[in-house]
Amino acid sequence: MEYAERFAGLKLKEEPLILGIESSCDETAAAVVRGRKLLSNVILSSAAEQAKYGGVVPEIASRAHTDAIDAAVHGALEQAGIEKKELDAVAVTYGAGLLGALLVGLSFAKSFAYSLGVPLIAVDHIRGHMAAAYLADPLLEPPFVTLLASGGHTAVLYTKSYTEFEILGSTRDDAAGEAFDKAARVLGLPYPGGPNIERLAREGRACIEFPKMFKGNGFDFSYSGLKTAVINYCHNKEQKGEEYSRADVAASFQSAACDVLAERAVAAAERCGCKTVAAGGGVIANGYLREKLQRACAAKGIRCVLPEKKYCTDNAAMIASEGLVRYRARDFADLSVNACAHIPLGRKGKQ
Ligand code: KG4
Ligand code: ZN
Repeated sequence: MEYAERFAGLKLKEEPLILGIESSCDETAAAVVRGRKLLSNVILSSAAEQAKYGGVVPEIASRAHTDAIDAAVHGALEQAGIEKKELDAVAVTYGAGLLGALLVGLSFAKSFAYSLGVPLIAVDHIRGHMAAAYLADPLLEPPFVTLLASGGHTAVLYTKSYTEFEILGSTRDDAAGEAFDKAARVLGLPYPGGPNIERLAREGRACIEFPKMFKGNGFDFSYSGLKTAVINYCHNKEQKGEEYSRADVAASFQSAACDVLAERAVAAAERCGCKTVAAGGGVIANGYLREKLQRACAAKGIRCVLPEKKYCTDNAAMIASEGLVRYRARDFADLSVNACAHIPLGRKGKQ
């Protein structure tokens, strides 16, 4: 009998205790939820070590996860004040991400779930980012519009139900986070780029006209033109030996990159007749974008659900939150489930 089949007749609990595990990139994270209430959240990051190399080195990430996973999980159980035998399910990111990194969390989760005799739930990382909103507002219910902006994805989605969404628009080239990271590199800022651009932008003015968006119809995005414009602007100034303000470049880039996200999310909500916009992904941690989105929503009488910043960047609380959605849908995984480096946005099923 496959592992998931064991739980075919499982009596589901109203408020199950779910452990979430995340190890897709450079954060080793574990968290516990009871229903939609977050009980603990532990994040052990190798970002400081990665910063020495200007980005994430997969081998360093895998080794750091191996060193940290046990402490992260036990730390999360302790912080939640529960014993592992009380857990009702173990949810873990199976993709997308770095394969070696994913395998550490996935292997740990498989053996943990098996040893406790509870269901294993395989979570798509990006759906985890979207599910962070359910923790931010425990009363949030679909349908609503989701603005997703991370290092790998940028999209506006119509979240129809807990398990189904429709892509209204997505990026045609780079993701917003990727653009932040590339612009940061041009400005000589260290990894991770997003927060460093945000910091520098506070000292500057958004006075340089960078191209704001993809000129087509609909809700698609494009960031490659903006990235090239930033590169050209800096190189031009340097070649001519002209002084320029890096802080102004950062502020101008930030507003060009973020304004369009807020505008399109609100336009999508209006198009769908939704009174709520939720957001998720690392770029949503950006203070400028948060304010912009909140204001744009308020101006149209739309409710804006923003997870706290620490639940926008990678964490396991969001994985536990999506774990609850999957638990309620009885979407349990077998022990044969494998790590997956790429998962197209909106893919149904697991492999
Ligand atoms: O969601 P995330 O943590 O990982 C992925 O699943 O991709 O997103 C990481 C991305 C990076 O590109 C990072 O530069 C960006 O989110 N990011 C930010 C901020 N914090 C993280 N971008 C802009 N402002 C921030 N404060
Ligand atoms: Zn992420």
